Amino acid sequence: MSRVVVFDETGAPEVLRIVDEPAGDPGAGAVRIKIEAIGINRLDQMMRAGMSPRPIRLPHARLGIEATGTIDALGSGVEGWAIGDAVIVTAVPDMDSNGTYAEHIVLPVDRIVARPAGLDATGAAALWVAYSTAYGALVEKAAMQPGHHVLITAASSAVGLAAIQIANQIGAIPLAVTRSAAKKNTLLAAGASGVIVADHDDVVEATHRYTNGAGADIVLDSVMGPGLADLANAAKRFSGTLVTVGWLDPRPAPYPASPITMIRYMSFEHTLDPVIVHRITAFLTAGIRTGALRPIIDTVFTLDDIVAAHRYLEQGHHTGKIVATI
Ligand SMILES: NC(=O)c1ccc[n+]([C@@H]2O[C@H](COP(=O)([O-])OP(=O)(O)OC[C@H]3O[C@@H](n4cnc5c(N)ncnc54)[C@H](OP(=O)(O)O)[C@@H]3O)[C@@H](O)[C@H]2O)c1
Repeated sequence: MSRVVVFDETGAPEVLRIVDEPAGDPGAGAVRIKIEAIGINRLDQMMRAGMSPRPIRLPHARLGIEATGTIDALGSGVEGWAIGDAVIVTAVPDMDSNGTYAEHIVLPVDRIVARPAGLDATGAAALWVAYSTAYGALVEKAAMQPGHHVLITAASSAVGLAAIQIANQIGAIPLAVTRSAAKKNTLLAAGASGVIVADHDDVVEATHRYTNGAGADIVLDSVMGPGLADLANAAKRFSGTLVTVGWLDPRPAPYPASPITMIRYMSFEHTLDPVIVHRITAFLTAGIRTGALRPIIDTVFTLDDIVAAHRYLEQGHHTGKIVATI
């Protein structure tokens, strides 16, 4: 059997409950993973709260797109993997019926990669979603180069911190935007070249000051809302790229008039493509090996504390990833 988090209706964190279900046997080309730790993501909270970007199947919906663990059963035809191998889950597009908030998950074998050496289970649970999103947006979509100035909003989020590290790994110059002056030193210590406090500073003026008047080559935005217009004006005219990956501010976002390239990015575009998953894995594994990439974890809960973990996420005071061990 497997302990699984489910919810029958959308709402506050308290709608989440734990039930026992069969762990499931992997069919041809699939594996069963004994999950050790899961990453808690904003998408999970949006699905639970009824703000899912796509319809979800209720009642008895599952939750979760991120996990790490060990293979404990192999389906027929699976080659190159063995019972006990430590792996990371790369994509769960059907999370409402097969989410990772569970003791076990059965997945097609092309939805796992080997856990990079040097990461324990909690570190590995904090890696894939944040770093593949930041990598996909910055490297694959915006073609980030050494010397590029990269403006990163919600910089203390897991995606924001991953973007800071990936920019540094490539030799770009990360500029962090936060709402909280209290996070300034943390962001500098995390590798930001400069920090802009959105509630006090003029984001456009500060970005131009950091870039000698040129503007940011790339803006990575998780916030949207009314601030999107300023972010577009902070990007370099004509050659700047603004990539939006989230909408933490639910207020309407004006469509910017600035002459820049705008991209709306969903990491599933890349994490469901085995060729790009191979590139992401190579990049992240190298970064872990050299120490350039190191997931920053704010708090570790247990699966039994999943309601508390969601309450904590909603408070928004965290810096980095919230993880739950199983
Ligand atoms: N496109 C994709 O495929 C993809 C994949 C993964 C995540 N995402 C998105 O990436 C973003 C970050 O996700 P995450 O899980 O890493 O972290 P998260 O928990 O969503 O981010 C927390 C941080 O975001 C900032 N924040 C929260 N609400 C905000 C608001 N209304 N306005 C401005 N800033 C706000 C706060 O930082 P400060 O206090 O420093 O301001 C907070 O500490 C989310 O929007 C998520 O949906 C997208």
